[in-house]
Amino acid sequence: MNDIPPVTRRQAMLAAGAGLLLPPRFGHTAPAPVPAFPPSQPTSLGIAPTTVELAPGITRRVLAYNGQVPGPVLRLPEGRPAWVRVTNGSDASELVHWHGLDIGAVPDGASEEGAATIPTGGTLDYRFVPTRAGTRWYHTHTMAMMDFSRALYSGQFGFLIVEPRRDPGRYDREILLAAHHWDGSLPDTPRSPEQCAMPRYRYATFNGRLMPAAEPVRVRQGERVLFRFLNASATETVSLALPGHVFTVTALDGNPVANPAPVSVITLGVAERVDAVVQMNRPGRWVLGPIDPAQQAAGLGRVIEYAGSTGPAVWAPPPASDWDYALFGGAAASPVEDLRLDGVFPMLFERHLAPDGMEGWTINGRSYADLPPLRVRAGGRYLFRWTNLSGCAHPLHLHRHRFTVLRQGMRRIGPIEKDTVQIGRFDTIDALFVADNPGDTLFHCHHQMHMDYGFMQMIRYT
Ligand code: C2O
Ligand code: CU
Repeated sequence: MNDIPPVTRRQAMLAAGAGLLLPPRFGHTAPAPVPAFPPSQPTSLGIAPTTVELAPGITRRVLAYNGQVPGPVLRLPEGRPAWVRVTNGSDASELVHWHGLDIGAVPDGASEEGAATIPTGGTLDYRFVPTRAGTRWYHTHTMAMMDFSRALYSGQFGFLIVEPRRDPGRYDREILLAAHHWDGSLPDTPRSPEQCAMPRYRYATFNGRLMPAAEPVRVRQGERVLFRFLNASATETVSLALPGHVFTVTALDGNPVANPAPVSVITLGVAERVDAVVQMNRPGRWVLGPIDPAQQAAGLGRVIEYAGSTGPAVWAPPPASDWDYALFGGAAASPVEDLRLDGVFPMLFERHLAPDGMEGWTINGRSYADLPPLRVRAGGRYLFRWTNLSGCAHPLHLHRHRFTVLRQGMRRIGPIEKDTVQIGRFDTIDALFVADNPGDTLFHCHHQMHMDYGFMQMIRYT
């Protein structure tokens, strides 16, 4: 419920300190099997109902980690064994998923992959080695169905920063902002046949605080500020701008991009992360906020305040969104037809309506429990050929691996490494997937309602 305090680069380096002693790891296939310095103490996460104050007089009772929303920022040094002890003080079984880490299926925290659930009153130790530096996150992996207080509708999410062994040192200050929406409900309004059901929300926050009630983010002229954005909403896409400034995008889902391009709008599908550096060179007080007026009215935003500046904070919507994954990938790779592949997985996503009007989701005509797993072999290279036959976007997420987006719609694009990618309505994406982390692997849409109603498939190593 408190703002995450900005961290200076020095503090971040100290946090990563021990990791600097370890040898560098090259590429992303080398495992880190030897627990060099096993931690002697676990990091504790407690799940319990907590009162979150979105603003004075606006409080909600929600499930959260360690009594705060977001949960504590976990800073884990790359390559060093981590040990997190989770205690479940809620009234239902829980699991914690470490989103974006290529760890084993058991600690990964999805019951479909064989992870243990934590019963009410129980405690579970998660042990894993985070192997690639970057902005990851952690969150509950339960289902909500139509209960808008559970799973990702709750306050159970937090940043997990895997700290690099060497700090590139290209920023002076780091600001972490996690977007979330509160008080969801499903309006009972008639929709056209192609329109997807979309929950409505009363409030939207960064770091659990409505903009008018939040402390401004304080910066100084000349600083290079690294923003780490996380969309921890259960269902909503968020597009952000900061008038008078440009974002230089350095990483997507925590993975460095080939071409750190400047943009005026950052769009995050559910579960996506964007790291962006902003050169602070326009003194004043500015609103960093969503370009969607409804989300701004719901309270999403932050005042960015230069030292010595006063007066009302200024918002101006950008003329148009310039957000495009293709900006960040550099030169397009060779056509996917030329790739050496062990298999192609065409996956068609469709919506269907049950007789009672409930919306369900299918992949190649079947929903999760009826859907046979995709079979891969360790070391194999596969192409996901995703086609969205529905009228809304989907944040497609792959557990325990990343994939490389190579084509979007009709365009070949420079490779970008993602663990979650937003596929547009009636759009297609080709992504290369290297099966380099044996164990059951879940693929799903990260929109809570879609995943709960069938939009999931298992990937199994043979
Ligand atoms: Cu962010 Cu299945 O997870
Ligand atoms: Cu979806």
